[in-house]
Amino acid sequence: MSVFTASRLLGKTVLITGASAGIGAATAVLFAKGGSNLILLARRADQLEKVAEAAYAAHRAASVQQGGQIVTVQLDVTDGSQVAALWSKVPPGLRAVDILVNNAGGAHGIDRVGDIQEKDVDTMFATNVLGLISLTQLLIKDFKSRNAGHIINLGSIAGREPYAGGSVYCASKAAVRAFTASLLREVVDTPIRVTEIQPGMVETEFSLVRYRGDKSAADKVYEGIRPLTAEDIAEEIVWAAARPPHVNIAEVFVLPVNQASATLTFRGGSK
Ligand SMILES: NC(=O)c1ccc[n+]([C@@H]2O[C@H](COP(=O)([O-])OP(=O)(O)OC[C@H]3O[C@@H](n4cnc5c(N)ncnc54)[C@H](OP(=O)(O)O)[C@@H]3O)[C@@H](O)[C@H]2O)c1
Repeated sequence: MSVFTASRLLGKTVLITGASAGIGAATAVLFAKGGSNLILLARRADQLEKVAEAAYAAHRAASVQQGGQIVTVQLDVTDGSQVAALWSKVPPGLRAVDILVNNAGGAHGIDRVGDIQEKDVDTMFATNVLGLISLTQLLIKDFKSRNAGHIINLGSIAGREPYAGGSVYCASKAAVRAFTASLLREVVDTPIRVTEIQPGMVETEFSLVRYRGDKSAADKVYEGIRPLTAEDIAEEIVWAAARPPHVNIAEVFVLPVNQASATLTFRGGSK
């Protein structure tokens, strides 16, 4: 943990959306290991509890004296009334959030324009873009009044490089990129930090969701290549958060070694 300079994470309160699986879950565990408190949000309450247990265990094993308070809140980031009611479910002692990780999101389908279902368009924009904006708006006023805070948004290679079959997902992540870059400029006269993490291929539930539960189609995405893991991205997130307060990691674009672009991969190896 020394590489992250854990002392900078001690006693911090981190709010993570989409903490029930994948990158969000791995990030929760790593922050807990660093001595942070956690507010974990997602729709699947049972999964959130499992992640909270893993985070408690990581905190105990690290033997750090601070942090280790964890609250889970079943919340759909696309539901404005649930977002507005968030603080009523968080103990007062954890309401001063230091780091917001806007991670909830995903891709739905690989359909071409003309064949995309309206509900997939709505879900991707509501979750990846509007949900991220809602949570940011909820926290930024407090960050400004306390002259502190760090917002870490999960963008994607898809926000940098559009590809066929990804029009809506790519558009949603391009929106995340533009929103994050605008926010970075807006808070230039404050100590508030703004970071966008842009992963390439990460093996999580992401492809299973994209292929609507078709496991063999999801597995094919990672065939012959060693993808990133959720833990790899968690390391980038926690590393960005643990930089000294005058250092802002604006963007982290991270790929598996055998991926060079959204569509260029080398699949000669094995996992
Ligand atoms: N995996 C990749 O290759 C990759 C690459 C680049 C960027 N990303 C981005 O990284 C982020 C995390 O993805 P992942 O790979 O970890 O995928 P994942 O394993 O499918 O996890 C997605 C998380 O988002 C949550 N979520 C989805 N809709 C939600 C909603 N309406 N309200 C609250 N939570 C919601 C899910 O929890 P519930 O279902 O319990 O709500 C889950 O915890 C996403 O923004 C994704 O676009 C992923």
